[in-house]
Amino acid sequence: METFKIEVNGKEILVKENETILNASIRQVGNIFVGCKGGACGMCKIKITTGETVDGIYSKSALPDEEYASGYRLACQSKPTTDMSILPIRERNKVLR
Ligand code: FES
Repeated sequence: METFKIEVNGKEILVKENETILNASIRQVGNIFVGCKGGACGMCKIKITTGETVDGIYSKSALPDEEYASGYRLACQSKPTTDMSILPIRERNKVLR
């Protein structure tokens, strides 16, 4: 099974093949805001700075096409296919944007 490295919130985490960025982040970073986990709420939105993903089904209201084209993804629906860097995901009790 392949694993990919992701730089997130100043830490390097390992994401297993076919694992979502959100699940790997919960496991290794902890203290993450988690919403619907179904691509509907947008709570887990991230921006990719380098790397590629495959993405599951999500609501266009949670991630409009123009945001997708600009590199935004929903961590609950995105699975890396390469090593990646992403801008911080939201942690509880912190404002990261
Ligand atoms: S947690 Fe709701 S869209 Fe990802």
